[in-house]
Amino acid sequence: MKALEIRDLRKSFRSNFLFKKYEILKAININVEKGQIYGFLGPNGAGKTITIKCILGLLFPDSGQILINNKPATNPEIRQILGFLPEYPFFYDYLTAKEFLHFSAMLFSIPSKKASEVSKKLIKQVGLEGKENIKLKNFSKGMLQRIGFAQALINDPDIVILDEPFSGLDPIGRKELRDIVIALKNSGKTVFFSSHILQDMELIADKVGIIFNGNIIKEGKLSDLVSHSVQYYDVIFSNIDKKKVEANKINFVCRDESYIVRCQDINTMNNIIEFVILNKGKILSVTPIKMTLEDIFLKEIK
Ligand SMILES: Nc1ncnc2c1ncn2[C@@H]1O[C@H](COP(=O)(O)OP(=O)(O)OP(=O)(O)O)[C@@H](O)[C@H]1O
Ligand SMILES: [Mg+2]
Repeated sequence: MKALEIRDLRKSFRSNFLFKKYEILKAININVEKGQIYGFLGPNGAGKTITIKCILGLLFPDSGQILINNKPATNPEIRQILGFLPEYPFFYDYLTAKEFLHFSAMLFSIPSKKASEVSKKLIKQVGLEGKENIKLKNFSKGMLQRIGFAQALINDPDIVILDEPFSGLDPIGRKELRDIVIALKNSGKTVFFSSHILQDMELIADKVGIIFNGNIIKEGKLSDLVSHSVQYYDVIFSNIDKKKVEANKINFVCRDESYIVRCQDINTMNNIIEFVILNKGKILSVTPIKMTLEDIFLKEIK
């Protein structure tokens, strides 16, 4: 079953000058299955936040359809099952973490007793135990991101939408928030998140959609997109005179005292290894290089 389906979504803005029309989203098609972690990938200004705002009903699209659990996203019932972490969340500086979550719970009409229980649970879940009585103005960027994350989960949503959840976090913070996303998936939730950080995407996304200039230029399961086959082999060797290497018309890059040769196929790799052995050189490493999400991303946006 599809948790989120976007069909031919278009959105344009008019400039104040001459009312010229700028088409920002051209024909966005996205399919997210229930229980999936969907990574929405794209460079700055590609249209990620605008798409997310359309999903949440914060912006009205020019045309197209957005279905959540097969119902139009404009259906008020749907709001109850969505959780959202904005790219630039707004926090009330003088509220403590606990008060902020309590306040967020009230917006969903959660009764006070239940709100306290849920807030306590979420504070623990996002790793802010012991910090619940600190005012948000004294929170670090990473702590704010965590409390924003907790706020997105306050209504126990089925679908969690996160706009750049990992930005500005250190590697430990990113790892911890990634683990929370994986835990959400394991509890049956669907997660849709935007990011530029390819590594995070590769580590947790089941499916990826690449947006560029307002178009989805690629969408697919990460396992299908990221090839498991080897693209080329990097051979690193040393202890051979540079003139000898050059004389054999080998294309290499020097690093420290060693040579790095990129071989396009297995035969070239074997020839290089043979050359090194014959010349009493030292093979330092032979690394098969596989296609990564970064390769796909760069290839598609070129
Ligand atoms: N209200 C607006 N009026 C006119 N243009 C807008 C408006 N809001 C956004 N845009 C333009 O739409 C494009 C897409 O913006 P969007 O915020 O969706 O990008 P993004 O993919 O989220 O980028 P980033 O990775 O930097 O967050 C940008 O070129 C932006 O300038
Ligand atoms: Mg954005």
